[in-house]
Amino acid sequence: MRIETQRYTERFGHVRLNEVQKVLELDSGKAEENKVPDIALLKIEEDAFREYEDKMAIVVPVKDEKLKLFEGVISGVPHDCHIIVVSNSKRKGVDRFRMEKDALHQYCHFTQRSAMIIHQKDPLLAKALTKAGYHELLNDDGLVRNGKCEAMIAGILLATVLKKSYVGFIDADNYFPGSVWEYVKCYAAGFSLSKSSNAMVRIFWRYKPKVSAGMYFKKLGRVSEITNKHLNSLISFNTGFETEVIRTANAGEHAMSLRLAQLLRYSSGYAVETQELLSIFEGFGGVLPVAQPPGVKLGVEIFQIETRNPHLHEEKGGRHLQAEMLLPSLSAIYYSQLCDGYTRENIIDELVTQGILKQKNEEPPAPLMYRPPAEIDLAKFEDIIAKHLDSYSALAEE
Ligand code: GDP
Ligand code: CO
Repeated sequence: MRIETQRYTERFGHVRLNEVQKVLELDSGKAEENKVPDIALLKIEEDAFREYEDKMAIVVPVKDEKLKLFEGVISGVPHDCHIIVVSNSKRKGVDRFRMEKDALHQYCHFTQRSAMIIHQKDPLLAKALTKAGYHELLNDDGLVRNGKCEAMIAGILLATVLKKSYVGFIDADNYFPGSVWEYVKCYAAGFSLSKSSNAMVRIFWRYKPKVSAGMYFKKLGRVSEITNKHLNSLISFNTGFETEVIRTANAGEHAMSLRLAQLLRYSSGYAVETQELLSIFEGFGGVLPVAQPPGVKLGVEIFQIETRNPHLHEEKGGRHLQAEMLLPSLSAIYYSQLCDGYTRENIIDELVTQGILKQKNEEPPAPLMYRPPAEIDLAKFEDIIAKHLDSYSALAEE
């Protein structure tokens, strides 16, 4: 793969924020010896992909998606990545979880690859979380709460048990296996470029087509644009220099080194991707006196990589989608300890303009937050899950 070099990097304390880098060539041919390095382009060799894919778990959160889409997504993940499916699909009536499990089993059997699948409401998962002290992840019924973020956290913990070094996320509703393949290649490319062991790679879509009459290749979603704007405003205020570096505040497709994933606070619902960035700035930005994570000096390096493939996924919901998605992201920014009065005021204005808040003296609801996985008793979690790991393998016979 050939991608643009990091042409510009913003610094926020110990955080290095790279501007969007474009993929230019998906396959860049044989390794060339003694080649003069190019200053504008970087070539990522096959060996580098192999090395990182082997150490990476790919978490696929799924809830009642079309089985064909799910199968397509799985088939796009490079072979050496361990797939972790965390499903919250329904089991009553038509057992959709069962169908996903069967499909994954058959696929892994024929392709000889490793994968695991677990239901979000699995009682053993809940038990392991309870023993580890991660109570906020559980509902009154003692099982894991609904939501994609909760599935992602379970995925991070399972990747820890599998002794992986990196964890990437891919939504189960992606239409193109080729896009999925490219996302994972971009994750590996980013990790291979990172100077810090705390690295994050976020996917920037060249096009996000909408299916209507014909297909329209739209550059960016409205929600992302608005979230990016306010997050950039928060950074600008803290560094004193105006910036537009963040282009991926809502990137569902992203990956992290597991070390970093364990150090972040997460927030429930659609705020999760925005909150990850806020947690990084709060912990590593050097502005707040409190909560400096261990190894803060290693810093964090963030990559935003623009893919060649368009992003096409299932669009659910309708009129309320905007409110459902925008509000949590903007609330996360609003309630960050780093957020200044100016950005706060603009967020309220935005929410009023969008008709999400009724008047200016209203405040958005505070998001539900989860402690960093590093603060729970990971050994206890592992102790319980490791004993049953085989039963979660996609190849397990019943
Ligand atoms: P959007 O793409 O941001 O509009 O959000 P989606 O509704 O498509 O969700 C993103 C991904 O998370 C999809 O793969 C969903 O199937 C999955 N998902 C949504 N809610 C849940 C949940 O409660 N649990 C799990 N495990 N996955 C979920
Ligand atoms: Co979707």
